[in-house]
Amino acid sequence: MIDDDRANRNKKIIRKESYSVIDVRLAVIYYSSSGTNYQLAKWAEEAARDLNAEVRVLKVEELASPEAINSNPLWKKHAEDTKNIPVATSDDLDWADAIIFSSPTRFGNVASQMKQFIDKQGGLWAEGKLVNKVVSAMSSAQNPHGGQETTIHAIYKSMFHWGAIIVPPGFSDASIFKSGGNPYGTSVTVDQHGRMIEDVQDAVKYQTKRVITVAEWVKKGKK
Ligand SMILES: Cc1cc2nc3c(=O)[nH]c(=O)nc-3n(C[C@H](O)[C@H](O)[C@H](O)COP(=O)(O)O)c2cc1C
Repeated sequence: MIDDDRANRNKKIIRKESYSVIDVRLAVIYYSSSGTNYQLAKWAEEAARDLNAEVRVLKVEELASPEAINSNPLWKKHAEDTKNIPVATSDDLDWADAIIFSSPTRFGNVASQMKQFIDKQGGLWAEGKLVNKVVSAMSSAQNPHGGQETTIHAIYKSMFHWGAIIVPPGFSDASIFKSGGNPYGTSVTVDQHGRMIEDVQDAVKYQTKRVITVAEWVKKGKK
């Protein structure tokens, strides 16, 4: 009850600030083989559009062979359904004020496709262009304790090296309690058919609005 009260109080603070937010560019960068993280990215896009922020939804480059993809019907279908989603580049990171990463858990860690994308940013990093990017992360796994939090932490570890400003949701809104209570970033459990177990849509949208809000604070402060 106390947690709910505190979350509702904080919610009002964020919502009030959010209404005026428009001058922020958000890149939502995801990897997904069966559609979960793509759906999280799409909800983030909707939330950004609600605030009139500029938003790009981008997938990272696939590394798996066509044979591996085609051997799994869910993966094959998702790859076909999303073939027109643009692939994220360093230019997208340079363009963005705020970035939300979304990756499935792979053995408790970030998917290698996402890790490769992060590892390809040495050039931008060397130029100091990743400093002060406002970032947050989301994840999914087949088990509630199968690595959802460690995957988000793995992403954040690289963000420390970028000098990015990490914006976790904390317990600052009732949607976080409703979605399973991950204060590091929204995460969701999926069954073997790719169905989400928890209702995380509100948490994704809240996290996105919070990131955009903080990005605008940072952007205004820099002017
Ligand atoms: C190679 C591999 C490793 C995985 N490792 C884990 C794991 O450590 N813990 C877990 O709960 N789920 C694990 N999973 C399940 C995925 O996390 C799950 O399928 C994914 O979150 C679904 O996201 P997507 O639909 O966006 O691809 C693994 C799946 C694969 C293919």
